[in-house]
Order: sequence, then C-alpha cells, then structure tokens
Amino acid sequence: MGKKLLLQHINEPGIQTFEVYRKMGGYASVEKALKTMKPDDVTEEVKKSGLRGRGGAGFPAGMKWSFIDKKSEKPRYLVCNADESEPGTFKDRYLMEKIPHALIEGMITSSYALGAKTSYIYIRGEYMYIVRILEKAIEEAYANGFLGKNILGTDYSLELYVHPGAGAYICGEETALLESLEGKRGNPRLKPPFPAIAGLYACPTVVNNVETIAAVVPIINNGGDEYAKIGIGKSTGTKLISASGHINKPGVYEIELGLPVEEFIYSEEYCGGIWKGRKLKAVVAGGSSVPILPTNLILTTAKGEPRLMTYESLSDGGFATGTMLGSGGFIVMDETASIVENLYTFARFYHHESCGQCSPCREGTGWMEKILHRIEEGRGSMKDIDLLADIAKHIEGNTICPLGDAAAWPVSSAIRHFRQEFEDHIKLQRCPLSR
Ligand SMILES: Cc1cc2nc3c(=O)[nH]c(=O)nc-3n(C[C@H](O)[C@H](O)[C@H](O)COP(=O)(O)O)c2cc1C
Repeated sequence: MGKKLLLQHINEPGIQTFEVYRKMGGYASVEKALKTMKPDDVTEEVKKSGLRGRGGAGFPAGMKWSFIDKKSEKPRYLVCNADESEPGTFKDRYLMEKIPHALIEGMITSSYALGAKTSYIYIRGEYMYIVRILEKAIEEAYANGFLGKNILGTDYSLELYVHPGAGAYICGEETALLESLEGKRGNPRLKPPFPAIAGLYACPTVVNNVETIAAVVPIINNGGDEYAKIGIGKSTGTKLISASGHINKPGVYEIELGLPVEEFIYSEEYCGGIWKGRKLKAVVAGGSSVPILPTNLILTTAKGEPRLMTYESLSDGGFATGTMLGSGGFIVMDETASIVENLYTFARFYHHESCGQCSPCREGTGWMEKILHRIEEGRGSMKDIDLLADIAKHIEGNTICPLGDAAAWPVSSAIRHFRQEFEDHIKLQRCPLSR
C-alpha cells in the first residue's frame, strides 16, 4: 500500500466534523506553526519539502511563497484555487467534500507563513453543495478558536471566506480568478506583474491549488525533509489522481509520486485494469489540456524505460513522445474509443470557454472545433489534417494565458500519434469506430 498523507482518514466516520478531525490529529500544524515557528520557518519547511503546485503547472510552492513582496505596506492575501474545471479532474472536489478541515487547516498554516490576515477560497459555481460543506467547517474552526482574532491566544488573526464563481473554466487561470474575485469579468491579466507583487486588489497575493494547500499540513507536521523522502527526484510527496474512463475502478487515488504508470492502470490497488477485458488505446494523463499518448508511449518512454507518475518521467521526450502530469486528471481510453470524437468534444469545450481576449484563441478554438466536427461527421478532406495542425501551431504560445496552449496541445498530439485515424475518418466518410 502506498503512503497516504491526505486521504489516510477518508473512511473515518464523521471526519467532516471538527470534532472527529481534531481527534484524528487535525489542526496540529496550526498549533505547531503559530506557537513554535516564525512565518519564514514555515515557508522554509515548504521549500525543503520540494512540494510543487498541484494545480497543473507544478511550480515549486515554497519558491512561489518566497516571491511575495514583504516590503510592501499593503495587505497580503492567500487565495485558494478551487475552480477545478479542467475536464477529467475531480480530486479537489473529493478532498473538500470528504475532509473539508484539511483545506481549512492548510489555509490557516499557509496564511500564517505569508502574513495574510484575510484569505479566500475561490470555488467553481457548480460546487455549491461543497460551498456549504466548507462554510460549515469554517464556522466550526471559528467556534474553536482556529480562525478569527488572536488564534489560539497568539497575536495572529485571520478571516477566511469562501467565494463561489459563476462556472467559467477561464476563472481557474489565476489572474482571471483574481479579476473575478474583485467582481470583474474573469479575463486573464498580462504578466508581469505577477500576483506575488500585484495580485488581489493590486496587493501581494499567492494563489495555490486546493491540494497544494492541503499538503502543507503533513509537511509542517512531519517536517519538509520527511516529505521530500517520498517520491523521486524533483517529484516529491504524494499526488491525488482523478482516474476516469475505461477502467474497472474509476475514482480519486492518492499515489506516491514515482509509481509506474503501468502499475497505476493495472493494479487492483488503483484502476484495476481496462474494463470489459479490452485493450488500452490511449491515455490523457494530466487533464484534457495535456498531450494524449498512445499505449506504447504512456507505458514506456522513448528510451525504453518504464514511464513513471512523476513530472519528469511523464514529460520525458518533450512533446514528441511525452506529455505532462498536469492536474492529475488521468483519462483512460480503450480500443473502442474514437480519438477524433474525443478531440471534437475537447475542442467544443475550449471554444466555449475561451474568454475571447486574444484572437488566436478566440478564432482558433472555433475554427478547430468546426474542422473536427466535419472530420468526425465524414465531411472532412485530407487537407483538413494539416490545416488543423497549422491552426494549433499558431495558437500555441501566442495568447495572454495558457488556455490557448491547452486547446492546441490535444489537437497537435492527437495528429502526431493518431494520424491514421484522422485519415480513416476522411476516407470512409464516417467515424470508423462509432457505435
Ligand atoms: C485556463 C486555465 C484554467 C486553470 N484552472 C485551474 C484550476 O481549476 N485549479 C487550479 O488550481 N489551477 C488552475 N489553473 C492554473 C492556475 O493558473 C495556477 O497556476 C494555479 O492555481 C497555481 O496553483 P499551484 O501552484 O498550487 O498549482 C488553470 C490555468 C489555466 C490557464
């Protein structure tokens, strides 16, 4: 059994309540940090842990915290990104729903490290039932002296708010999120300045994913060095993986980073193999935004080594033969899945969710959707394949935020690895795999 740091108490009856969470050792990181550590010591432990942001980009959390402008007289903010709108990703929902206090505890300890006196959890509008779960947990934390004025009798005070969005994928991009939190339309900002210098209300701000913030709890409880012992190389600790698609056991799994992909897919402890005794065809390993890989490349790197669930191993070979760990949205497709049909579904999503600020994304996502639609319906021509690849190439890197890349990478990787399937659609004038 792999080590569990976030989900070890998930099956404890009543773990959603303050009482049971506390009985299981909850809020110890707040006591330890506020009573025995200086804020910078907390940041130092997070740096030592090697924890990388779990929202998608994998940026080192401790380093991000150390960029916060401490010379500024302005208030500082910690904002938790609970927007979770990336198709295939549902691990933050699981964590917040099952153990809401783990996030609240992480928010308090992390806010203390950053010197934030007001913090926010920005949550996607579709998660209203979780808003209520979080608000109840926050109420309990206030009632027990872990939030509000002079927490645990120290001179540290913190107010914590939950702010629901209105259900837009773009509001997961951190600067669009901040615009939305300020009450404006969620359009990504030009960077620099980065949020650490001018974030919420132009004040120094850190934006971190739900899982990143929850991981601060075991880091402070056990020490950064202990956390860094789990995993491989620069992929330390555990990671929540949202496993979906054609597998026997879809769900949220906490894995130790470094687990072989093959073991994750086939072992009974995790996905339990491909359903209905079918063969594996492809995997989107890190949420819909990352390049899709065929069976041979998801199980083995181009060097012939077993592919591991780490940031480095999954991206080994660059985009020619690799992909990304991303948000850990692991979508498995069996031999009956149509790559073109799936890609068309993704393309519709990105076109719908593009904020429209940058023309390559605004126009390109719609254009890709149209072409994929006609190929899927059997109305495409061979020229469409190169046209699609060309549009994707012109979106990549040419937009304010990475939504453009997120729309382009699935398209370019699908053509790279499954070109034959596009050609078959065009020759047969229908989807060869449609049921
Ligand atoms: C279009 C788009 C959507 C995103 N959605 C999310 C999201 O739902 N949750 C999240 O944590 N990060 C999301 N991100 C990444 C955030 O911009 C940011 O990198 C992240 O919240 C940083 O947290 P971390 O360092 O803890 O990973 C998104 C990025 C883009 C470009």
